[in-house]
Amino acid sequence: MNSAGIVTASYIAATVLFILALGGLSNQETARRGNWYGIIGMAIALVATILGVVTQHYTLLFIALLIGGSVGLVLARRVQMTQMPELVAILHSLVGLAAVLVGFANFMDHSTVLHGAEATIHDIETYLGVLIGAVTFSGSVIAFGKLSGRIGGKPMILPARHWLNLVLLLGSIWFGIEFVEQSAAGGGTWPLLLMTLIALAFGVHMVMAIGGADMPVVVSMLNSYSGWAASATGFMLSNDLLIVTGALVGSSGAILSYIMCRAMNRKFLAVIAGGFGTGGGTTAAGGEEEGEVQPIQSEETAELLANAKEVMIVPGYGMAVAQAQHTVYEITKVLREKGVNVRFGIHPVAGRMPGHMNVLLAEARVPYDIVFEMDEVNEDFPDVDVSVVIGANDIVNPDAQEKPDSPIAGMPVLEVWKGGTTIVLKRSMATGYAGVGNPLFFKENTRMLFGDAKDTLDAVLKTL
Ligand code: TAP
Repeated sequence: MNSAGIVTASYIAATVLFILALGGLSNQETARRGNWYGIIGMAIALVATILGVVTQHYTLLFIALLIGGSVGLVLARRVQMTQMPELVAILHSLVGLAAVLVGFANFMDHSTVLHGAEATIHDIETYLGVLIGAVTFSGSVIAFGKLSGRIGGKPMILPARHWLNLVLLLGSIWFGIEFVEQSAAGGGTWPLLLMTLIALAFGVHMVMAIGGADMPVVVSMLNSYSGWAASATGFMLSNDLLIVTGALVGSSGAILSYIMCRAMNRKFLAVIAGGFGTGGGTTAAGGEEEGEVQPIQSEETAELLANAKEVMIVPGYGMAVAQAQHTVYEITKVLREKGVNVRFGIHPVAGRMPGHMNVLLAEARVPYDIVFEMDEVNEDFPDVDVSVVIGANDIVNPDAQEKPDSPIAGMPVLEVWKGGTTIVLKRSMATGYAGVGNPLFFKENTRMLFGDAKDTLDAVLKTL
């Protein structure tokens, strides 16, 4: 086999491994294996490209690999689980930037001269690659800013913003036509440059208009865009693996966005149109929700748990902040030894990224067979004696069902209030991510266990 044959064979192997990786990641029991498939696939792809495709400038390539690899390694080691979404966002911005740079490099490279339809198709590839790349780049930078708190979470609503978007879109199409025409005559730099500026502005405007509570969908949507940008880059470079991998990322990101929208009962187009959600997380729950709050101490909590038959644990973002998952599992073990049936109910958008709670529970080695999806346990709450809500808020908010004008109206929630007693662990009466009050805290069968979830759970464990 010649070297082109080896590269093709390696690319096919890498593609298969990427597909197996996605399949593996869909289930927590196989996720670890899925990750390995992905790592091996990427290693094969890199080696095949370096040895089989690149033919010169090896020194430059290795310097770039060394710098990129080191930055990636340091970032991955430093990043906290709670900062994962913002890391993902900033990494997407790099994919977008790469697509823009490759697009411009490709446009300026005159070593291969194409004619007729081939030239037109190549120009369109370049134009689309730069367009999607620039939107992904600036949108991801803003998403990173919002998620890391550098930019406020409040949606920025400009007057006539939909018209503005329409003008930007029409401008891009017009410059696209200009670009293809001028490029055939040896020009095209200006339309390409102007479109890049428009696309950058569009990315900023689009994500700035989206509120805090919709950010996860936006990150997953940008993930999808970054895939399409990579795919477009693959067309420009005539690299089949990049085309396929980009398409895999693009479509899986789109499917994930759809699943998340469904979990939050939001329409995808309404999310993209923006305007929902606030910075969230600091204002006190109040207004109509005000009432009598009944605090509880850790000793009494331990007693209630030990005397229960059915316990449902509902973890949320606060468990991740407090890093309480290990203590939660210790408590689970003690209770199970006492014959209490302990289960975990996981909301699809609990925490700050898809699968956030599952990752934490897996890290603490909680067995998978007691961890359930929301839909699997939501009917069971009437039979639950004690529900323990650990640092969760929006995902257990009855207003989602009962108050049609609530910003989270229609979002499916875990119906903990239908059980015997609900114990809510949080530090204060502050709202959650969506920035809305929660009447659950004032219900007759709710007890509030105030404090950092790790500290209060440590105390519960000690008493048990
Ligand atoms: P939230 O509604 O954000 O509530 C988390 C609660 O945890 C807060 O009310 C906070 O109250 C408490 N908390 C924070 N630190 C704590 C600590 N150290 N100890 C104890 N409690 C602590 O979280 P949720 O219920 O998991 O809902 C997720 C929300 O985030 C939804 O609105 C969802 O749409 C959104 N979102 C989801 C994702 C994904 S994909 N999962 C991504 C981004 C956003 P105190 O401050 O009073 O302690």
